[in-house]
Amino acid sequence: MLRLLAYTVLAAVLYYGGTTAVSWRRNVKKAQQSGLPYILVPVFFLHPLWLAGHVFLLPLFSRLPRSWMTWIEYCIPDFGYAHRMDAFERVGADTFLTVAPSGLVMYTCDADVINQVVQRRNDFPKPSPIYRALKIYGGNVVSAEGNVWRQHRKAVSPPFTEKNNHLVWQETIDQSLAMLSSWVGRDGKGDKTIDRVADDTMRLSLHVISRAGFGRKLEWPEDNTDVQVDKDYVDPSKIQNDMAGADEGHSMSYAYAIHCLLDNILFQLLFPRWLLRTVPLKAFRKANEAYSEWGNYMREAVEKKRTDLDVGKEVKESSESMDILAGLVKSQTKADKQAHLEDSEILGNMFVLILAGHETAANSIHFSMLYLALHRQSQLRLQKDVDDIFNGKPPSEWDYDRDLPQLFGSMVGAVLNEELRLVSPVVAIPKSTWGAPDAPLTVDGKTVTVPAETYIGLVVAASHRNPKLWPISPPTYPGGKPVHPRSNLDNDLEEFRPERWIVTEEESRSNKDARQQKKENMAARAGGDLNIDETSDTSERLYKPSKGAYAPFSDGHRSCIGRRFAQVEILVALAIIFQNYSVELAVDSYATDEEVAKMDDNAKADVWQKAAEDVREKMLNNMAAVITLQMRKGTVPIRLVPRGQEKFPPNVDQIWKTNHPEKCTTKGRPDWRPWDGKQMYHGA
Ligand code: HEM
Ligand SMILES: *[C@@H]1O[C@H](CO)[C@@H](O)[C@H](O)[C@H]1NC(C)=O
Repeated sequence: MLRLLAYTVLAAVLYYGGTTAVSWRRNVKKAQQSGLPYILVPVFFLHPLWLAGHVFLLPLFSRLPRSWMTWIEYCIPDFGYAHRMDAFERVGADTFLTVAPSGLVMYTCDADVINQVVQRRNDFPKPSPIYRALKIYGGNVVSAEGNVWRQHRKAVSPPFTEKNNHLVWQETIDQSLAMLSSWVGRDGKGDKTIDRVADDTMRLSLHVISRAGFGRKLEWPEDNTDVQVDKDYVDPSKIQNDMAGADEGHSMSYAYAIHCLLDNILFQLLFPRWLLRTVPLKAFRKANEAYSEWGNYMREAVEKKRTDLDVGKEVKESSESMDILAGLVKSQTKADKQAHLEDSEILGNMFVLILAGHETAANSIHFSMLYLALHRQSQLRLQKDVDDIFNGKPPSEWDYDRDLPQLFGSMVGAVLNEELRLVSPVVAIPKSTWGAPDAPLTVDGKTVTVPAETYIGLVVAASHRNPKLWPISPPTYPGGKPVHPRSNLDNDLEEFRPERWIVTEEESRSNKDARQQKKENMAARAGGDLNIDETSDTSERLYKPSKGAYAPFSDGHRSCIGRRFAQVEILVALAIIFQNYSVELAVDSYATDEEVAKMDDNAKADVWQKAAEDVREKMLNNMAAVITLQMRKGTVPIRLVPRGQEKFPPNVDQIWKTNHPEKCTTKGRPDWRPWDGKQMYHGA
């Protein structure tokens, strides 16, 4: 009996080993024939077992000799943010394949390659299966491909108009004022340590998308200083800190439900619904409850909208009539079969629009604030531009048509662009040749072949920092050391320097001409009803990166439908926050207010530097992408103080560096680990 068992196990192992070896060899052969450089890796990063298990294995692996583990980075989802250009420099190519037994992956940070891939939609479809997590309510515009995608895109695009962006503008003004007032208090004094910027910006953008997307106005809670979003959930009947109060017949509020849902998105993906429902684990119960609660809210909203539309309550001209929900519901009534969506697909689209439209913009506002707190000189320049644009006028007199282009073309736009350059929410845009034939591709002027069934990652986290694609300056090493220990050590592309986007009048004029041309070409090509806007990712007054070099919103037909929506929201929120207030790092961990008050600039620079080091550390190491990139561990406390009452001098970073030349050197620094110069690729 035992012997039989042993034989069976042996046979299974041999069989598994054998098939693995055979398919690995087959994949290596494909890589060799492709003409692309490649590296061998033992696992395909999307293998379900690896996806579920790698986090547990990593601590183990980190004890093994480094020379055995050179492959590991390339098997971790979204390694692009952690490893950036270093990952490509180690391989020795801007475009390469990883070859595992169960799959091929092509990674690139080459602008020309990115551009070819996004433009050739049929050759390089989206790898639909990986968008499974987004389909928990139903098919949708993000996850679909081909004709189904067209149908969804058609149904969701009507509200993404300039007209609706006016609503985004207005709602962002209202909500940002409420957020700001919750931070600085009724008296406007500010100077309180705020540790919930990430949560509050999430709430801000959730409220904006709810109003501008779904016609649902949410009020900022009166006093949310004590609201703990997710700490003491016990059971649904006992939710204490319900964000906006649960509605009739619900156990969670709308806002809390979506928050929990997004927080537990991995559960939703990894475990089947029946398991989440039955296993008596708090986390499971919560995930399941959030799922059904938010679904219920949405179904009610759809019902209500349907009735409203039926009785003709919605006048065509009113701005509400074109909210996303109305568009989706109308798609069902149209004679046009092409645009018809199932109920589940309406929910599916509402879910992804909330998801795509809320985490991304929120994080941009959050990280822009952190960067501006770290870079006070840039903050001053931003405030000066806000002054020039608004002349101290209250937000009630701000005007979308007049002021938005100004904002976009100013330091505010430059900060937005720079933040998205460094912290793109989608680290590597997923494409593939799944279900498609081998595809020719031009790399460095040479034609190569991307084998069929290859997963493709357009690693914007690296292309945005690729010194071949951007004008570079010498590094300034904020805090005396490089922002990333191995990447871009000899240039400033890892550094937050929004000034790089500010160009001369003349350059800006020639940008404008080129863009007008492109816009006309596109309009002729695309056909209007899919709402594909291939105009600039940035204002024409700002620096214009070469094609494919800058793609935080992706590009081509599958680019972000909400780009303009997001840009409006982020620009306005920043203008509101910085018009009358400055953001400083909170140094509470290192000194009390009384101590700081007694300090001279040198002593202040020392405590500030400690706080700044914490922020840089968190922005390097505590970030992870679940669907979008966020700070997943810890928070960054900041303070808002009325302009003119800042505690720290704007050149605080410089003061510290001048005082501590010994800490601003590369010698004898274990945290500087320059790359050893060995390239690891095979082939081409
Ligand atoms: C800073 C903010 C944002 C960034 C950086 C961003 C980025 C992106 C990226 C990279 C994609 C392509 C994803 C892929 O290929 O898998 C995408 C797609 C999409 N985004 Fe955004 N997004 C932002 C805000 C928004 C907002 C505010 C909305 C809606 C209100 C939105 C709705 C969508 C939709 C519907 C798609 C799918 C488009 C399609 O496949 O046809 N996004 N976005
Ligand atoms: C900033 O101050 C000015 C002048 O007091 C005021 O008109 C404006 O409304 C304030 N802005 C914000 C965003 O509160």
